[in-house]
Amino acid sequence: MTRLDDLGYPITIDRDVTAHVARFIRERGRPRAIVLCDRNVAALATRIARAIGPKTTVLPFALGERRKTLRTVETVCEALANAGADRTTYLVGVGGGVAGDLFGFVAATYMRGVPFVNVATSLVAMVDASVGGKTGVDLRAGKNLAGAFRDPVAVFCAVDALATLEDRHLREGLAELVKHGIIEGDETFDALETLAPHPLRKWPWETVVADSLRIKAMIVSDDKYEAGAREILNLGHTFGHAIERVSNFRTTHGDAVSIGLRAAGLLAMRTGRFSPEEHLRVLSLLTLLRLPLVAPSHDVDALIAAMTNDKKTRSGTLRFVLPRTIGDVEFGVIVPARSLRTVLGRVGSPPGAAELR
Ligand SMILES: NC(=O)c1ccc[n+]([C@@H]2O[C@H](COP(=O)([O-])OP(=O)(O)OC[C@H]3O[C@@H](n4cnc5c(N)ncnc54)[C@H](O)[C@@H]3O)[C@@H](O)[C@H]2O)c1
Ligand SMILES: [Zn+2]
Repeated sequence: MTRLDDLGYPITIDRDVTAHVARFIRERGRPRAIVLCDRNVAALATRIARAIGPKTTVLPFALGERRKTLRTVETVCEALANAGADRTTYLVGVGGGVAGDLFGFVAATYMRGVPFVNVATSLVAMVDASVGGKTGVDLRAGKNLAGAFRDPVAVFCAVDALATLEDRHLREGLAELVKHGIIEGDETFDALETLAPHPLRKWPWETVVADSLRIKAMIVSDDKYEAGAREILNLGHTFGHAIERVSNFRTTHGDAVSIGLRAAGLLAMRTGRFSPEEHLRVLSLLTLLRLPLVAPSHDVDALIAAMTNDKKTRSGTLRFVLPRTIGDVEFGVIVPARSLRTVLGRVGSPPGAAELR
């Protein structure tokens, strides 16, 4: 069991979190709790509910990215009202990143806000979505466009739940692990290099999740509202979001971030920041993890247009997060347009001899 306390709410990482969740509610004076869950993890949610108390209600919902909408928020809020939830009811949300974002947003708005306990069951939720206070849903106009900053009162990473997560969903979190490894360097990156050749199902996930989440928690605690330093968490993401968009979301977020990490390394190298040896280390790790390095689109103009329209672009100027070394990442970097175009051209092909020139 690992507990992180940098954020003003406890984060507990353990193989089984059932008893931890129950204890947390008990220590709050046994308020009424309602367990909301992604129906794919209903069995775990039911166990948690029973541990909290025999009469604890479980409300399962069919989720998935397509249902991460205001309409589902309404469905969940109506179900809560029907179940008699009031301002003092604790909502315990169980599921992946979609569940966390959506139930977290419900908790931020239902009766103008009720306490939210996030139980993360996917790798993306554990190492990324559960921490940082961003909640919300998608609009037709784009992903995550309606939401609120709102911290949970506690986060629990249910590591054993990863056993039932499909491979493709587990793989969605790998690029974020590499990203945290590049930011932190040291043992975090080395550990991933050591684990990478081994089958994912044999990884010591409790340690991997704890190490990775510790990095995000530290960065977020320094910069809760994204005024500055938190931007380093966008490493690989300026490129990644553009690649996702240009592919019409056929390239998944995790794959796009992997390609984005290659692009960030290339751009850092071309602008004299990053050494070819370290860039190769990152490429080797991504390759060992069988993450993609090649953008499906060669359309440099479309990629630049997508980057410029990213909601995170300030005043139309593209700013990049680039590594200086593995373990030292810089944000807010403005680069020559020519370097950017060269890099975007390169990521359309596999790394070859030209990669290091
Ligand atoms: N708030 C943030 O800071 C933040 C950060 C990163 C990602 N996100 C969001 O997270 C979402 C992606 O998260 P995700 O990859 O977890 O998607 P997800 O929640 O849709 O989970 C992926 C799939 O796995 C299933 N699932 C989840 N846990 C399971 C388990 N233990 N066993 C079996 N099946 C399980 C889900 O039902 C779903 O079908 C996106 O909507 C993204 O925007 C938010
Ligand atoms: Zn991401």
